[in-house]
Amino acid sequence: MSRDQGNDWTRRFSEMPHTPEIDVLVIGSGLAGAAAALAAARQGARVVMITKTDRPEEGNTWYAQGGIIYHGANDSPERLVSDILAAGAGLSDPAAAALLAREGPRLVKEVLIEQAGVPFDINGEGGLDLTSEAAHSVARIAHYQDATGRAIESSMLDRLGREPGATVLCRRTAVDLLTLSHHSRDPLDVYAPPTCVGAYVFDQETRRVETMLAKETILATGGLGRVYLHTTNPAGACGDGVAMAYRAGARCLNMQFVQFHPTTLYHPGERFLISESLRGEGARLVDPAGREFMNAYHPDGSLAPRDIVARGIHRMMHETGAECAFLDITHRPAAWVRKRFPQIHARCLEAGIDITRERIPVVPAAHYSCGGIAVDDRGRTSIRRLRAAGEVSCTGLHGANRLASTSLLECLVWGTRAGDDAGQAAVSRSSEYAVPEVAPWQYETEPVDPALMAQDWLTIRQTMWNYVGLVRSRRRLERAHEILRELHMEIGRFYVRGELSDELIGLRNGVQTSLAVLLAAMEARESRGCHYRVD
Ligand code: FAD
Ligand code: SIN
Repeated sequence: MSRDQGNDWTRRFSEMPHTPEIDVLVIGSGLAGAAAALAAARQGARVVMITKTDRPEEGNTWYAQGGIIYHGANDSPERLVSDILAAGAGLSDPAAAALLAREGPRLVKEVLIEQAGVPFDINGEGGLDLTSEAAHSVARIAHYQDATGRAIESSMLDRLGREPGATVLCRRTAVDLLTLSHHSRDPLDVYAPPTCVGAYVFDQETRRVETMLAKETILATGGLGRVYLHTTNPAGACGDGVAMAYRAGARCLNMQFVQFHPTTLYHPGERFLISESLRGEGARLVDPAGREFMNAYHPDGSLAPRDIVARGIHRMMHETGAECAFLDITHRPAAWVRKRFPQIHARCLEAGIDITRERIPVVPAAHYSCGGIAVDDRGRTSIRRLRAAGEVSCTGLHGANRLASTSLLECLVWGTRAGDDAGQAAVSRSSEYAVPEVAPWQYETEPVDPALMAQDWLTIRQTMWNYVGLVRSRRRLERAHEILRELHMEIGRFYVRGELSDELIGLRNGVQTSLAVLLAAMEARESRGCHYRVD
């Protein structure tokens, strides 16, 4: 990634009026944000990590089930790279895969196990209990029951809480990134190389917008599943980071590759994830007649890469008229199932399904954004002083389709590297970091009708689900374009006059990010990985 380090501008920066009090501003408190904040604080930087949610735990990380890649028996970095590249449908960056395979297991041991004390499950010999998932050639996935995300996130937040230089602020929604060219009061700053100097942040308690000036900013805002009607993602995953980066002019990549998880509970309400590790532990994926239909589509059957299994289910449903597929783990002992998958067992029981005795009805749902803000091996974006890590970023690792359980590891590796790099820079080159005078936020007061916002969200989600979903075509994408372009303008019109709220910020970002996915899908004419066009 090229970054203009122009000396003239370094000189002008030092003539600017303020020195920010925040060394590193981290936006987002999932695993990527927590890893970045911890690494930066360990460099001696003053770190502020913000999240828009009530509790710092809330986000995709908390809900992760299957696990995180470690190092299996007879495993090697080369073997992991080869699995990642095979799943990525020819578009994974080999350098990113090699970095993950080299650094990942070491950081799991050093940061997650030794520093944070994550209580991963242990096997009979006292080693980590490693499980398997689709498209992995060996069992290499460390887990805590079927709730790995909770164990990782709570341990990391506890660890971060013991770092004196780190502050965590909840109910703070980043509205926009501050850049020299967009926000400086000095008109000459439009000639500066694109540079981020912090963010406008909406405080949900006081309803005021703070100008958070920072030497370095790291976006770790997670995914965008919530722009789809059916998703595994929790509320809040509506693409804020991509939208903010887009508006600031950062380069985004591979946005068309939205991964659909093949197996979520087919039941009214939320699409609760039924972890791929069930199939890794022997669950059979069958049609209503009990046939293992995936063997017709791929030699690895139901353990084929995720995009292929999701489309296989979709096709089976289309051809047979079935409402869903089924996962069957009834052949394993009931006590073992309850111990290994307590969360899934309990949630399915609430839905009236005892998975020790009955098949689980499943359908695909939007799950993961393989694309995002383009970053290099230290999380640097195309904008100076702005880094990104985790699901909001595109490291190139996932290519056109992510290998299961690589996401948490990517958060850990790139989060740590981005935090290290940003912290080190902010501490060691302190004098280069003066920032300009930034215009204060202009408040608007027009009430925004919640019924309009609810309907706009429904339109976005239905449009993305029906026209920019698992199976796409030119006509569907064009229809989506007509709808979303109009909606984007309409939302823009009431955003500029409307009273600011977390909901309004989310809606503005949701439509912007949906358009980013759509435009990338319109550009990409060939079917590859998660982007599948029938035409
Ligand atoms: P998140 O954990 O989503 O955190 C994003 C943070 O940003 C949150 O704190 C949020 O509040 C904050 N935020 C967002 N917008 C703003 C804003 N405007 N202002 C302030 N804060 C903001 N991956 C695996 O590797 N293994 C698994 O087993 C696995 N299972 C999964 C199961 C489920 C149900 C889901 C949904 C995902 C799963 N994944 C799994 C994927 C993985 O969990 C995510 O990709 C990863 O946790 C993303 O972490 P993150 O730190 O990038 O984002
Ligand atoms: C799962 O447990 O199936 C999710 C794993 C992932 O998304 O990597």
